[in-house]
Amino acid sequence: MTAPKKLFIKTYGCQMNVYDSERMAEALGGQGYVETKSADDADMILLNTCHIREKAAEKVYSELGRFKGLKAEKPDLKIGVAGCVAQAEGEEIMRRQPLVDLVVGPQSYHRLPEMEAKTRAGEKALDTDFPEEDKFEKLKTRPKASRGPTAFLTVQEGCDKFCAFCVVPYTRGAEVSRPADRILAEARDLVERGVREITLLGQNVNAYHGAGADGDMTLAQLIWALDKIDGLERIRFTTSHPNDMGDDLIAAHGACSKLMPYLHLPVQSGSDRILKRMNRSHTAESYLRLIERIRAARPDILMSGDFIVGFPEETEADFQATMDLIEEVNYGYAYSFKYSTRPGTPAAERAQVDEDVKSERLQRLQTLITRQQRAAQDSMVGKEVSVLFEKPGRQKGQMGGKSEYLHAVHVEDAGIEVGDIRKVRVIASGSNSLSGELV
Ligand code: SAH
Ligand code: SF4
Ligand code: F3S
Repeated sequence: MTAPKKLFIKTYGCQMNVYDSERMAEALGGQGYVETKSADDADMILLNTCHIREKAAEKVYSELGRFKGLKAEKPDLKIGVAGCVAQAEGEEIMRRQPLVDLVVGPQSYHRLPEMEAKTRAGEKALDTDFPEEDKFEKLKTRPKASRGPTAFLTVQEGCDKFCAFCVVPYTRGAEVSRPADRILAEARDLVERGVREITLLGQNVNAYHGAGADGDMTLAQLIWALDKIDGLERIRFTTSHPNDMGDDLIAAHGACSKLMPYLHLPVQSGSDRILKRMNRSHTAESYLRLIERIRAARPDILMSGDFIVGFPEETEADFQATMDLIEEVNYGYAYSFKYSTRPGTPAAERAQVDEDVKSERLQRLQTLITRQQRAAQDSMVGKEVSVLFEKPGRQKGQMGGKSEYLHAVHVEDAGIEVGDIRKVRVIASGSNSLSGELV
């Protein structure tokens, strides 16, 4: 028997890329590859890339440059670029970095085995099509290996919203929802392999409208179907768009006990003028009213968001409106970014805000967000939370996991096992996590 070939995958970007990397490893598993944690002993290196901001895309080229020595030592080593940079730049990648053998876009991962064979024959392989066939159907999962207690599951992909700053509609294509029966089968399979928490993924996950037995299903209907799976204890979903937060989904937050009280609902800006220029088709006011309704259904829900500062033409008054909105919502968590021009998107052509101004605004915004985050975490002290334990903590004898609000929690106790869900009383709030004791 020949020794298995080794595959090293490095994943950048969003959770969907994490999910995709697992699928690519499975697809190449059929070609005799096993995963390795080090690039040095790999026969194939795959970078699963992100194109969302300029820095993310540039990282890929500096990483590729570092493989030069490795490839010189090992001529049989194949190097591939997958993900959103692959989709956006295609052949250009091979031109800019000739040591790349393979470029594959996110819609073509099921074609990886043929592409790999092509590289073994000494040819370059490129595929950035948006094929007709269903890649998820073709990416049949491998023999059942047991796995950790949490998993991602892609239910919807692509985006039709075309926010003026964003590359996703171009790199991931039009919005497509997977049929409900396939998702449910995949969820059952995950649960059989030890998964207790599933995070449903989509660039616009709450726009889900996959085929069900009686016509298209909403995300809320899908969640209720998942709720019936014995052994599945927790359901989460990300990322949502404010305009797709249906009444049934809001109601599910109050009624479905497996649906966790955490919601990531990006708003991007608090200025209506900027929101309009961003093509977001919601206002600051409509977003605030929406959060009121969500909190009416589930008062303890922890809200998180995304913010872009320094979008073209953003004035100090516009930025102040964003700060006011943050004050009003009171976030438990948030991601914030300086606007980054993306070639081919409408906002790239507009009058840009000075880099210094962007940096200064980002700093002010992050100071406010950090304060809110801290307060949300500190407010857990003395409360009882439920924790799904995922792995041993940093210190010996500790186990770490996540509360229903997604706070990291660690507990000193030798008796806890990975996959356990236990009631924990929070006793202290540290810099990035809570500590507690079993109830
Ligand atoms: N589909 C999700 C997330 C898309 S990308 C959504 O609609 O919210 C994740 C985040 O990256 C976005 O929410 C936005 O805040 C940020 N982002 C996207 N394009 C950007 C750009 N050109 N510059 C800076 N941040 C950007
Ligand atoms: Fe990008 Fe907007 Fe679509 Fe989100 S909704 S993926 S920000 S275009
Ligand atoms: Fe990045 Fe593509 Fe995800 S651009 S954020 S990897 S969808």
